[in-house]
Amino acid sequence: MLKQPNLTINEQGHLCLGGVDVLTLAKKYGTPLYLLDEDMVRERMGLYVSAMKENFPAGSKPYYASKALCCRELCRWAKEEGMGLDVVSSGELYTALAAGFPAADICFHGNAKTEADIRYAIESGVGLIAADGEEELRRIDRLAGETGVRQDVLLRVTPGIDPHTFAAVNTGVIDVKFGVPIPTGQALDVTKTALALPHIALRGFHCHVGSQIFDADPFCLEADVMTAFLDAVRRETGYTAPVLDLGGGFAVAYEEDQRAPDCAAMIKKVAARLREQCARYEYPLPTVTLEPGRGVVAAAGITLYTVQNVKSVPGGACYVAVDGGMGDNPRYALYGARHSAVIADRAGEPQTERVTLAGRCCESGDLLGEDVPLQEAKAGDTLAVLVTGAYNYSMASHYNRVPRPPMAALRGGVDRLIVRGETLADVAAYDL
Ligand code: LLP
Repeated sequence: MLKQPNLTINEQGHLCLGGVDVLTLAKKYGTPLYLLDEDMVRERMGLYVSAMKENFPAGSKPYYASKALCCRELCRWAKEEGMGLDVVSSGELYTALAAGFPAADICFHGNAKTEADIRYAIESGVGLIAADGEEELRRIDRLAGETGVRQDVLLRVTPGIDPHTFAAVNTGVIDVKFGVPIPTGQALDVTKTALALPHIALRGFHCHVGSQIFDADPFCLEADVMTAFLDAVRRETGYTAPVLDLGGGFAVAYEEDQRAPDCAAMIKKVAARLREQCARYEYPLPTVTLEPGRGVVAAAGITLYTVQNVKSVPGGACYVAVDGGMGDNPRYALYGARHSAVIADRAGEPQTERVTLAGRCCESGDLLGEDVPLQEAKAGDTLAVLVTGAYNYSMASHYNRVPRPPMAALRGGVDRLIVRGETLADVAAYDL
C-alpha cells in the first residue's frame, strides 16, 4: 500500500485516514464518498506559506490553485492559513467570494476569459488578473475604463521550458494555448502594449511550466528564463516588474515507486537561483507568487466506493466494479493517470492481485485503473482509491445522470460534511 503519514491500519485491519476508521465513515455517509484530511491540507498550506516567507522578499506568498479542489470550505482554509487564491472562472471566483475570501488576495486566470468574467473580476476588486495576451489586455483595459478603475494585471508569458526534459526547447512547448511566447519576441511586444494602456497597471509576469514536477530544476530554469526576460524588458522599456509569478506544479506521489518531493527544499533552491540571477542582472528582487494546487490537496484526499461485483475473464483481466467511476474521478479515463487503491476492510493483507478497477458508467472506458495492485476483493468490500484530493471532485460530472458524491472532512479525528451529496432531484434540477 502507498505509504503516507495520514494513512494507517487499525487492529481490525481497517484503513484509517487521519486516525479515523474509514469503514465507519462509509457507513455513516454512504459511498461513493470523498474524504479529505483537513489537518493535512492546512499543514500543506502552512508549509508553502512559511517556505515562501522564509525564502522570498516580503509580500511573497502562495496562491492556492482552486481548480484542484474548489468549494467554500477550501477557500476558508486557504484564507485562514494565509494563502492567496488562484481562480480560473467566474464560478471559482463566486465560490471564493461566497466563502468570504478577500478579493484583493485573488488572482483571476484563464486563457479565454469572457467579458462577463472580466467585468465580474474587476467589479469584485480582484487583486490581479493574469492577462493571457494582447486582445485580452485591450479588453481588460476597456472594461476597467468603463468601471473607472486601473486594474492590476500580470501578463502570462510562455518561457519555452519542458518540465519533464528540463531543457529549454523553444518550439513545441511554446506552441500551446496559454500565454505569449518569450522566445519569439511576442512577449516583449505585448509588454509594450500593456505599458501603454491607460487602465492597465502592469504588476509583472506570470508563467507556469507544467504539473507533477518532482524537483527544483524546471523552476530554476524558469527563474533563469524569466530574469533574462525581465532584464530585456527593462533594457527596452525602462520598466521594472515588482511581481513574478512562477506558477504551480509541485508533484505528489500517486504510486509506491514515487517519492513526494520536499516542497520547502524546492522553494529554497528556486529562491537561491532567483537571487543569483537577479544579482547577475542587477535587477531588484521581485515579490514572488506560486500557485500550488495538487501539492496542497491531492494526498489529503481518498475516495471510498463499495465493490458491486468481481469478474475474472479467463485469459483476461479481473474486473472489480464499484459504485462510482469516471463521473467522480475521470483522471484515468482522460489521461491514463494512475492511482493506488486498497480494500479498506483488509488493508493489512498483502496486495496479491492485479485488477482492473471498473466504474459504473455505461462505457467500457469508464475505468479507475488497470493492472492495479489490490487485495483479493469481493462484493460488499469498501474500496479506497488514494490521493484523490486534487482534480477529482473539481472534474466530476453527471455522466449517466449519476449524482455527484458528498465530501466529508476530518479535523482532529472529527468528521463533518463539507459538500453535500447530490440527490436524484438535483440531477434533474435544471431540466425544463
Ligand atoms: N497555475 C496554473 C497556471 C495552472 O495551469 C495550474 C494547473 C496550476 C497553477 C496548478 O498546478 P498543480 O500545482 O495543481 O499541478 N487535471 C489535471 C491537471 C491539470 C492542471 C492544470 N493546470 C490532472 O488531473 O492531473
